[in-house]
Amino acid sequence: MASQLIQAGIIGVGSYVPNKVLTNNDLEKIVNTSDEWITSRTGIKERRVAEPEQAASDLAFEAGRKALEHAGLPPEEIGLIIVATSTPDMFFPSTACLVQEKLKCVNASAFDLSAACTGFIYALNVGKQFINTGAEKYVLVIGAEVLTRIVNWQDRTTCVLFGDGAGAAVLGPVPQGRGIISSYMAAEGAGASLLTLPGCGSRIPLTPQSVEQGLHFISMKGKEVYKFAVRVMEEGTQRVLQQAGMKVEDLDMYIPHQANIRIIEHAAKKIKLPMEKVLVNVDRYGNTSAASVPLALDEAVKQGKIKSGDNVLLIGFGAGLTCAAVLVRWA
Ligand code: ACO
Repeated sequence: MASQLIQAGIIGVGSYVPNKVLTNNDLEKIVNTSDEWITSRTGIKERRVAEPEQAASDLAFEAGRKALEHAGLPPEEIGLIIVATSTPDMFFPSTACLVQEKLKCVNASAFDLSAACTGFIYALNVGKQFINTGAEKYVLVIGAEVLTRIVNWQDRTTCVLFGDGAGAAVLGPVPQGRGIISSYMAAEGAGASLLTLPGCGSRIPLTPQSVEQGLHFISMKGKEVYKFAVRVMEEGTQRVLQQAGMKVEDLDMYIPHQANIRIIEHAAKKIKLPMEKVLVNVDRYGNTSAASVPLALDEAVKQGKIKSGDNVLLIGFGAGLTCAAVLVRWA
């Protein structure tokens, strides 16, 4: 008889944002933009900015510490740490190893995962497998970004969109029928050029010329990414619901990647989901990439918006292009 897989669920959450707030009015002094344009096109009112001495691992540490506390687990119980980030402290070592040391998760292996804004959901999917198979009992998944370091503050088409933050979840065994009940991951490399940070890698190494050309900054074809986002949010949602034999009406809470309120509302309309069930905090944090879904999830949990038995759908999309979703029956 085949042995039954161990069911994986989210047993603790945490998040952290830097104190410094950058409002749309502040941005009006930096680039040729307006609060009216940013609010009407994106829904963003303000975002957080890390202090100069803070890097991704510092934000990740704070979020991870709170998630461990919430789960009631000592750090040595964690067997694996995955940090999803596009803004690691450095190329190597991984930010996950730096977090392992800061948190004193002495028994954990650790690696970073690169899937841009989809990173946290990809990482949940990866971490889940270790629990399903019994390879690890507890996995710490973190999304952490300091995107304000990689935006061009002279480019109004991108610098108004992004912010800094971190969110974390502890995965662990939960009763059958609870936890992550279905999941979906996809990639469309054909769209890779739509959203890139082209410089500083092995293709275009860091040189005075690459810096002069601004190749160390985010570059994005916003309209194309917008269309992709709406399409895959609908596809991803349908896929995880179908896999679980559920309908949109069965959802209690929908936590999408917080890139733009128009994308969220457009997708919600297409899937016929009332906005009351959608967690939105893009107005306060902007797009924090891999941190956005866990930041929103932590907010929902801590505000008592998610209760045991609720069906919660987490969905992300981003550079790659990538998309992923998980459907969680809250333990
Ligand atoms: N302030 C004022 N005007 C601006 C600004 C600004 N900050 N930015 C652009 N404009 C101008 C443009 O120059 C353009 O002017 P023009 O018509 O004279 O040329 C005009 O506003 C309209 O620009 P569009 O790019 O057509 O604006 P759009 O309605 O498409 O909104 C936006 C742009 C907000 C970027 C939208 O396309 C979007 O949200 N796309 C998705 C982006 C996204 O989600 N990215 C993250 C993906 S996740 C990840 O992996 C990072």
